[in-house]
Amino acid sequence: MTLTTLGLSDVKDIVNLTSDWQDGWSEKMLIDGVNANNLFGFVVRQQDSLVGFLTYTIGGDFSDLLDIVVDKTQRQKGIATLLMQAYFDKLKENKVEKSLLEVRKNNLVAINLYKKHGYDQLYIRTKYYPDGEDALVMEKEIL
Ligand SMILES: CC(C)(COP(=O)(O)OP(=O)(O)OC[C@H]1O[C@@H](n2cnc3c(N)ncnc32)[C@H](O)[C@@H]1OP(=O)(O)O)[C@@H](O)C(=O)NCCC(=O)NCCS
Repeated sequence: MTLTTLGLSDVKDIVNLTSDWQDGWSEKMLIDGVNANNLFGFVVRQQDSLVGFLTYTIGGDFSDLLDIVVDKTQRQKGIATLLMQAYFDKLKENKVEKSLLEVRKNNLVAINLYKKHGYDQLYIRTKYYPDGEDALVMEKEIL
């Protein structure tokens, strides 16, 4: 398993990994973000195939964790944890003090993951998603 920073050569694989997922990424959004240097991330590959990725932005002293997805066949093996650790290390290196995120209120697996990594719920943003589902806004202080 290898972890690298997100680059343009990862975009097609990310689009494929998220193609059956409602909050998936379009190729254009990813390419524009990487090219403009305002979208960052990490990817994990196993024998060249992409098995997980994490994307984020940084603005001043805080970061938004946008997305973390692991291939269905590779879950519960610690890949998301690996990605989050790389993300926290990067934030520390850049002296970023806070990480914020939104997560679907019913996505208990992801909420567990975030709580395990030190995120606390700040508030609920009602009807945040296009299908009307609420989001939990969560925050972690980076020490
Ligand atoms: C959420 C997701 C990224 C977790 O990836 P993963 O590689 O399986 O996670 P890890 O193996 O590193 O597990 C870390 C922690 O996540 C939580 N977790 C992972 N799978 C879980 C499950 N099936 N049920 C409950 N908690 C779970 C646990 O807290 C776990 O810690 P533990 O193993 O000590 O119990 C993955 O399930 C996924 O891609 N889901 C679909 C996309 C998504 O919803 N992304 C988040 C919203 S943007």
